[in-house]
Amino acid sequence: MNNHKLLQTVNELMAGDKGLLAMDESNPTCNARFKQYGIDATEENRRAYRELLISTRGLKEYISGAILYDETIRQVTLEGSPMARAVTAAGIIPGIKVDTGAKAMAGQAGEKITEGLDNLRERLEEYSSMGARFAKWRMVITIGKNRPTLVCIEENTSALARYTMLCQEAGLVPIVEPEVMMDGDHSIEDCSRVTGLVLREVFHKLNGQGALLEGLILKPNMILPGLNNSNQNSVDEVAAATMSCLLRNVPAAVGGIAFLSGGQSANLASHRLNAICTINREKGIWPLTFSFSRALQLEALEIWSGKESKTLDAQNKLFESTRRNSLARSGHFSNTY
Ligand code: 13P
Repeated sequence: MNNHKLLQTVNELMAGDKGLLAMDESNPTCNARFKQYGIDATEENRRAYRELLISTRGLKEYISGAILYDETIRQVTLEGSPMARAVTAAGIIPGIKVDTGAKAMAGQAGEKITEGLDNLRERLEEYSSMGARFAKWRMVITIGKNRPTLVCIEENTSALARYTMLCQEAGLVPIVEPEVMMDGDHSIEDCSRVTGLVLREVFHKLNGQGALLEGLILKPNMILPGLNNSNQNSVDEVAAATMSCLLRNVPAAVGGIAFLSGGQSANLASHRLNAICTINREKGIWPLTFSFSRALQLEALEIWSGKESKTLDAQNKLFESTRRNSLARSGHFSNTY
C-alpha cells in the first residue's frame, strides 16, 4: 500500500477551505433531475451539463475534488479533452463513483444493499490510468419500523470495507459514505442512534480488514430529524447532535470528514455546515468539509435548464454556492449572508 500517496491526496482534498463537488449522479438519477427542469435525458445533455460544471471559472478556489460518474469519465469536452484531464487542468482532483448502485436487498423488505465489488480491482486500475485519484462508494441505511436490520448494516459495511481495501491497494483515496437517509418521521435522537450504530460497525470492519484510516475520507450524513417529523430541530441543535455523534463514533485517525447534503435545501445545508464547523474549531479532531451534490448543483441546474444561453448564469450560481459552503467550512457563512 502506498501510504504516502494516499496521505498526500487526502491532504490536497481537505486543503484550505475547499470542499468536494459530487457530480457523480448515475444516469437514472441525473435524468430524474433533468426531468424536473424539462431537460431531455440524452447522453449529450449529461455531457454538456458536466462540462458546464467543471469549466466554471475559478472553481478551484473553493473546490478541491470533483467526483465523476463512469459515463462522464469516458466522455470528452467539446474541445476533445477527456473529462478527467479537463478536471485536472482546472486545478481540481478527479474522483470516481465506483459502486454500481444500492439495490433492493433480498429478504430484507425496504432495505438496500450496495453492489459493485465485481471486477473492482481491474476497474480501479482503469480509472486510475484515466487520472482518477480518489473513489466513492455509497451505502444506504433507512430508518423505519424494524429498520435498519443488523444484517443490512453487517453486509453493507463489509462491502464498504472491501471497497476501501481495494482502493487503498490501488493508491486511490476511498471516500467512505454510509448514508443514513432523511426520509421518514424519525426524531433527531433516532438518527443519532442509528448513525452511531452504523459508524461503529463501519470502523469495526475497516479496522478488521486493516484499512489505513488516515488515508480515507468519511462522507457521513448530518444528524437530522426525518423529513416528515413535525419537530424540525434548530441549526444549533443539529450541529451539536452531529458533532457529538462523530466525536463518539469516529476514530481520531480518520484523514477527513466531508458531509453529504442528503436532500436538504441549499441554504439549510450551508447554515448547518457553518454551525458544525464552528463547534469543530473548538472540539474537533478532523479536517471537516462538504461533499455536496444537490445543495451545490440544483440552483445552477434550474438556471441552465438545458439552454446554452444560460451557461454562464448557471456557472455563476455554482460558483456562488461553492463560495457559500467554503465560507461555512471556515465558520464565516452566517456573518456574510
Ligand atoms: P447529496 O449532497 O445530494 O446528498 O449527494 C451527495 C452524494 O454524493 C450522494 O452519494
